[in-house]
Amino acid sequence: MADGTPSTRHLVLVGLMGAGKTTVGQRCADLLDRPFVDTDELVEATAHLSVAAIFDELGEAAFRELERQAVADVAASPAPLVIACGGGAVLDPESRRALRSNGVVVWLQAPASVLSERVAGDGARPLLRDAAPVTTLERLALTRAPAYEAAAHAVVDTAGRSVDDVARLALDALAAESSR
Ligand code: S3P
Repeated sequence: MADGTPSTRHLVLVGLMGAGKTTVGQRCADLLDRPFVDTDELVEATAHLSVAAIFDELGEAAFRELERQAVADVAASPAPLVIACGGGAVLDPESRRALRSNGVVVWLQAPASVLSERVAGDGARPLLRDAAPVTTLERLALTRAPAYEAAAHAVVDTAGRSVDDVARLALDALAAESSR
């Protein structure tokens, strides 16, 4: 894309809860003039339940199956999208493969303490209910790092950066990777 030709690949944002995938994704979609999709929203629309209610009523395994299907559907879209993935979406190897082969995957990072501040007071995330969010986020950062690493074409550190700055860095990654 060095010649300025728009990328035809999806821009895919991954990372832990609180990384800013939805906010940054919406900004990137505006800047690229592309549709924005959030896999959590797709799952909720399919199940006619909130993410929290799916965990409570159907269990996490059922949520992961719905998430796998949502990822497969969006990755297969012929129109280039901006896709914000739920934090656990790339734990599934087939989802990672579909996202990487159809998109440029950008891992939004921040220390657990920063993520925890961003999600403070948000009761919508079932994985953060039972312990101090910072403790859970530290654990997830360790256990999930290999999956994010395997999924990502690029990493953007979001700590101390504005939404505009992070969006610009994500778009730079899309352009750089699309020109390879
Ligand atoms: C989850 C992250 C959430 C949502 C669900 C599980 C996870 O999405 O998919 O609560 O496993 O990290 P966000 O990362 O958008 O909060």
